[in-house]
Amino acid sequence: MDISKLRPNRPNIIVSEIKIISYTLKSNVQEIIGELISGNYVLVEDFYNEGLKLLHQLKKYLKKEYRLNDYQQQREYRKLYRQASQKILLEVVDHQLRVKKSPSIGWLKILYPNTYDFFISFPDIQGLNSSWQWYIKGLEIKTLNLKIHPYYDVYFPTRFSHLNLFSNWIKTYSGSKEHAIDIGVGSGVISFSLIQHGFLNVLGTDTNKNAIIGTDLDSKRLEFTDNLTLKLGDLFVEDVYNKHKKFDLIVFNPPWLKTERKLINGIDQAIYYEDGLFTRFFKDAKIYLKEKGKLVLLFSNFAEITGSNQKHPINEELKNNNRFIQENLFKQQASPASKKTRRKDWRKHENTELWVLNHT
Ligand SMILES: C[S@@+](CC[C@H](N)C(=O)[O-])C[C@H]1O[C@@H](n2cnc3c(N)ncnc32)[C@H](O)[C@@H]1O
Repeated sequence: MDISKLRPNRPNIIVSEIKIISYTLKSNVQEIIGELISGNYVLVEDFYNEGLKLLHQLKKYLKKEYRLNDYQQQREYRKLYRQASQKILLEVVDHQLRVKKSPSIGWLKILYPNTYDFFISFPDIQGLNSSWQWYIKGLEIKTLNLKIHPYYDVYFPTRFSHLNLFSNWIKTYSGSKEHAIDIGVGSGVISFSLIQHGFLNVLGTDTNKNAIIGTDLDSKRLEFTDNLTLKLGDLFVEDVYNKHKKFDLIVFNPPWLKTERKLINGIDQAIYYEDGLFTRFFKDAKIYLKEKGKLVLLFSNFAEITGSNQKHPINEELKNNNRFIQENLFKQQASPASKKTRRKDWRKHENTELWVLNHT
């Protein structure tokens, strides 16, 4: 697979002629909100900040219209807000935002190399801008003593309890270090840790193209390419490379929440999983794990404590199938993402889990 030929996921842009209502400092905000709710496009013309203010006003207006303690109305509100806010546009000329005092976002050139001029929604620009800040600044991963530069639309850790658990466990691992697979490589942190601990051949797979593209860039920067192969695809990615190969170690930090809806390609797949993911995973893991190999899964009781009736997929596997037995289960209390989330009570009870399984 030639990673340089992968085309990254990116927000939709508008390049065709469309009817647009201009929004300037002189516009009547209530009229503009009316246009957005009727489904018309509105172009922010003067300052970047005006787009932020318009979003704020739209939110305020819709909140007044809907009783937000009613679940149905809350859903309606969110849907309408999403739709209407996506109609607020910014113009890009020569890969730069045309409005005054706007941030400079390198993704506009990287993700749309052949399209210089276009319209893009304000919320999408906010997402690109925040991702760009992380990408250029980088994120220090203390347990690995290195910095990653997370690519657009790729999951990266903002809380570190699962990495701590993994780092503590890998120090105690004494098996063969020839072949490991990191399923759902994301921004590469587990693969990098495996290589730092002496694994010779690590295969990182992911269904998200951007994860493969971004981890490849970081792997080159950090000089891990001799030991790391990246493959786009589902779970073990059955192809010539690993058809007959078995692994000493299989690691999977899967999405933690089950959903009934169809997943969107990209970061959505880092958080949510569809029915059947774990059934397929354990079935394949039985085939791909060496006789004395270890299967390591990271998970969390997040779904359980937030009241979802989702069953714990690892417990279910151990209970219902005679494929693996538990060697160990380590738990660590998840630290809050930020001070703001600390007041949410259930955070106190959130545990990250590291499961070590062996063949039966
Ligand atoms: C919670 S993130 C973990 C990322 C990284 N390993 C870490 O620990 O920070 C889960 C990752 O699994 C990927 N993923 C989800 N379903 C997958 C599948 N069926 N096959 C391969 N990767 C998958 C997601 O795209 C995401 O990058």
